[in-house]
Amino acid sequence: MNKHQWNLHADEFEDAIFDVTVDEANNQLGRFVRAAQLPANAVLVDLGCGLGSFVQKFGHRFREVVAVDFAAQIIARAKDRCAAQSGVTWLVADIAGAFKAVGTRADLAVCMNVITSPSPAKRNALWKCLAKVTKPRGYALVVVPSLESNRMVERRYLQINRRLASKRNGVVRREDSWQKHFERAELEAVLLHHGFRVKQLGRVAYSWSTEGLRRLRQDKTLPWDWICLAQRV
Ligand SMILES: C[S@@+](CC[C@H](N)C(=O)[O-])C[C@H]1O[C@@H](n2cnc3c(N)ncnc32)[C@H](O)[C@@H]1O
Repeated sequence: MNKHQWNLHADEFEDAIFDVTVDEANNQLGRFVRAAQLPANAVLVDLGCGLGSFVQKFGHRFREVVAVDFAAQIIARAKDRCAAQSGVTWLVADIAGAFKAVGTRADLAVCMNVITSPSPAKRNALWKCLAKVTKPRGYALVVVPSLESNRMVERRYLQINRRLASKRNGVVRREDSWQKHFERAELEAVLLHHGFRVKQLGRVAYSWSTEGLRRLRQDKTLPWDWICLAQRV
């Protein structure tokens, strides 16, 4: 989706958009934030901050927070929601060009469910910015849709004879947009390519209802995204 489409979602963000901080079912974010060895005066940069839920929940641990989103109306709502929080700079900017304004500043750079464009060139521009804003030895916390989880969900859809959207190179139709999904090894490889060493990789789980399905007794696993803490080398 482009920024105009995202702006259209600003008023109904909570209902229409998946918010990792709010919707996760297994408290992984807290664990992954704790796993980063952050200095006392750490700086957080949230790339594609949405309504600012991560800033709201974890921002108090940081001396300074920079939250970036290209949708002005979403940033306006985030500012309102996080009005009680001091030390936050809200930036309306495309991540691909945000480095100029942000600089190499992050002890923790967060980018959750943002690097999902079907275009490899667009994804590459975001990975590059993520690497550039993260200080050497600083951390990136990334959440991306899991292709393995999508296969699990599709198997269920097949069982109930629903039509499946086709997929190519991990690009899957979800709701009303096409989104890149990553296999675990692919996520590790792309982070390595952009100068990160993976410290911790796991699953951030969601209820089956987020996929429009009910959990069955035989289900051992909830649908998930990949969550990864990586350190810039
Ligand atoms: C799926 S939401 C995720 C929001 C938040 N990170 C979360 O975890 O809930 C994606 C957000 O990224 C923003 N976004 C997507 N592509 C962007 C880009 N290239 N530059 C800046 N913001 C972008 C959208 O406006 C939207 O607010």
